[in-house]
Amino acid sequence: MKALVLAGGSGTRLRPITHTSAKQLVPVANKPVLFYGLEAIAEAGVREVGIVVGETAAEIKEVVGDGSAFGLEVTYIHQEAPKGLAHAVLISREYLGDDDFVMYLGDNFIIGGITELVTRFRSDRPAAQIMLTKVSDPSAFGIAELDVEGRVVGLEEKPENPKSDLALVGVYLFSPAVHEAVTRLKPSWRNELEITDAIQWLLDHGHRVESSLIDGYWKDTGNVTDMLEVNRLVLESVEPSVLGTVDETSELIGRVVIEPGVEVTGSRIIGPVIVGAGSQVRDSYIGPYTAVAGDCQVIDSEIEYSIVLRGASIRGVRRIEASLIGREVEVTPAPHVPKAHRLILGDHSKVQISQ
Ligand code: G1P
Repeated sequence: MKALVLAGGSGTRLRPITHTSAKQLVPVANKPVLFYGLEAIAEAGVREVGIVVGETAAEIKEVVGDGSAFGLEVTYIHQEAPKGLAHAVLISREYLGDDDFVMYLGDNFIIGGITELVTRFRSDRPAAQIMLTKVSDPSAFGIAELDVEGRVVGLEEKPENPKSDLALVGVYLFSPAVHEAVTRLKPSWRNELEITDAIQWLLDHGHRVESSLIDGYWKDTGNVTDMLEVNRLVLESVEPSVLGTVDETSELIGRVVIEPGVEVTGSRIIGPVIVGAGSQVRDSYIGPYTAVAGDCQVIDSEIEYSIVLRGASIRGVRRIEASLIGREVEVTPAPHVPKAHRLILGDHSKVQISQ
């Protein structure tokens, strides 16, 4: 069995963060979301992984390399344009050969991994096995319709009038039967070859499609609330450890991870919190469910329930909550006179100012 991990696309939903970074590398508890997927694949006992890359190929290759850090053998497959998930399968035909495979969307996050699903597929071997989860916005997903016995009877990609609220989660298991399906498809209204249509084709041609319901699923929706929530869930189970320095005037409470090279002085940190390598926390408060990446500065500030990306600097600001702060961003107070906000915001930024 092989894995096909999709790490192309342009990440419009997570702008402005993805203007400068691949959406699969957005960090959850200081680790790119893609890494959780690769770890889940390795844990399920799959070694050979094809990663489909697009315009952010260089960035993905730089952090994943040959995959040996994950115990995987990675082969990169170039998709010249984001032409759809089924197109990714089409161009990976040679790599996949006649093996069964798990297709994993690199921007999806599934709590609890995929080991059980892979085991079930291996013993049951339907043509396709999909995972479904209830969502509140079904028109933003591929949607499955089930009969009274829970069998999949129909699938539709981003339907205007959804027949159910059961969305296809971005992990699919396939037998080689899918290869014929993907050659039979026509591009959808968004000009993509949809994997949802390929699974519908399998159904229409008498192949067996199995499904299972899960919860504990996250996908980027451009909705920072969701990102903060998945960050919270992951932080809840981190093992506390202090590898940097914490002076005696500082206090760490609960699950706090202080990575190497971090300097904490005169501060109070209440976990779950992670502070990435090389960051400085001085005269500040960091509250629960905050992930501060490496090389950041949090000085004379208060921050809680937030994600701060690499190299950001927050000085003299109280208080920041429920925020996503991008790489190398600076947040500082404005001069006292005139009393005005001074903003330099990139395209698609969102600011909420407390009056
Ligand atoms: C894709 C699939 C969709 C699925 C979703 C899960 O959507 O087309 O069926 O529900 O992934 O993440 P896309 O990310 O291309 O909008």
